[in-house]
Amino acid sequence: MHPAAADMDLLPVTDPPPAAAGSRLTVPGNFTPRQRFLAALEHRPVDRPPVWMMRQAGRYLPEYRALRQGHSFLQMVHTPELATEVTLQPLRRFGFDAAILFSDILTIPEAMGLQVDFPEGGPVLQPVVRTAADVARLPPVVAAERLGYVADALRMIRRELGDQHALLGFSGAPFTLASYMIEGKGTRTFEHIKAMLYGQPEVLRALLDKLADVVIDYLQMQLDAGADAVQLFDTWAGELTRADYDAVVRPSTLRIVQAIVGRGGRIIVFAKHPGHLLESTASLGAHGLGLDWRVELGAAAALCRQQPGRPTSLQGNLDPIELFAPAAHIERRVRALHTAAGATGWIANLGHGVIPSTPIAGVEAFVAAVHGLASHGAAPVLLPTRAALA
Ligand code: CP3
Repeated sequence: MHPAAADMDLLPVTDPPPAAAGSRLTVPGNFTPRQRFLAALEHRPVDRPPVWMMRQAGRYLPEYRALRQGHSFLQMVHTPELATEVTLQPLRRFGFDAAILFSDILTIPEAMGLQVDFPEGGPVLQPVVRTAADVARLPPVVAAERLGYVADALRMIRRELGDQHALLGFSGAPFTLASYMIEGKGTRTFEHIKAMLYGQPEVLRALLDKLADVVIDYLQMQLDAGADAVQLFDTWAGELTRADYDAVVRPSTLRIVQAIVGRGGRIIVFAKHPGHLLESTASLGAHGLGLDWRVELGAAAALCRQQPGRPTSLQGNLDPIELFAPAAHIERRVRALHTAAGATGWIANLGHGVIPSTPIAGVEAFVAAVHGLASHGAAPVLLPTRAALA
């Protein structure tokens, strides 16, 4: 074990103060939500763990459904004022410490010239990318030119948040983006991308490489526009064997992490079904690792402590369906996750996105349970409510 990692366990909760505060904070309750989020992501002590929720902006919120009635999903994604409004909605209602940009991972395939639609039943992309010639035809993308609306939204959101709340940007990781571009839609079987992996691995590698270039430029643009950190959604990486992940997919993800970290950015890597990949993802050198609910948080924390270099924080991993459970169950589970994660380096979250039928009371119970972990009664900070945009 790296000596610095071993020491982490022994740090008292009030010492040292969070560096982001600029001055010495002796009262743990003085953390702003943003300072709390950054401290946890950087494995520094906190008054209580920060909390946010994947897909926290979305259809489980009546105010999202109301705004959505007048606009298509893509219209909302493409219009910075609407994306800003939707991003802020959950922060007015719940005491989340971080906002996540309202957008979609499929902005990148769209910027590369694919037609992306969201009919009932999930996204559809065309034309599909299946051959070496298809990959070669994909144009290089300069994020500021094709995806500038995302930077505009982030700047607008940052203006609204000030320095009180953390702001997260995100991108799909190359393998997850490639799966939509190759399959043309969501899939349970991944037959076309796996056929390419086994039959033409060099074509898949070329596509992942091309995507990694765009993702690096896109994430850097988001950090420049005011994001405190970015999350890389490698949602479907867990569908692969570890050997295939390591040989074909991990290099493009590693290149992204190294580029962002090398320029001073903060990055969290999330994958679903990540259990068998943990040694491969924990060693990427990301600041944070997002876990789905199948992973035992304590075991992942122990593995992360064994990595050399800067310790990796963990994010997750309550099953989103546990938000349908009674508040007492949710509170028990949050306490258990906190105990398993250890005193530093944990960001409370779900193990995947909140689903549209989720009861608001379940979200309230989750947030209240995390707030209840405060050592000195830190008060939640809500954004002031404002008339929703028409
Ligand atoms: O977390 C957040 O609140 C930020 C917003 C966000 C959305 N999509 C909003 C959204 C983020 C981070 C995503 C990422 C995303 N999009 C992923 C990776 C993350 C994951 O969930 O594993 C993937 C695979 C997509 C592609 C995508 N977009 C799918 C599969 C769907 C679902 C289709 C459906 O009907 O459920 C979307 C649509 C989408 N993305 C919605 C939202 C709020 C619903 C759109 C609507 O209003 O109809």
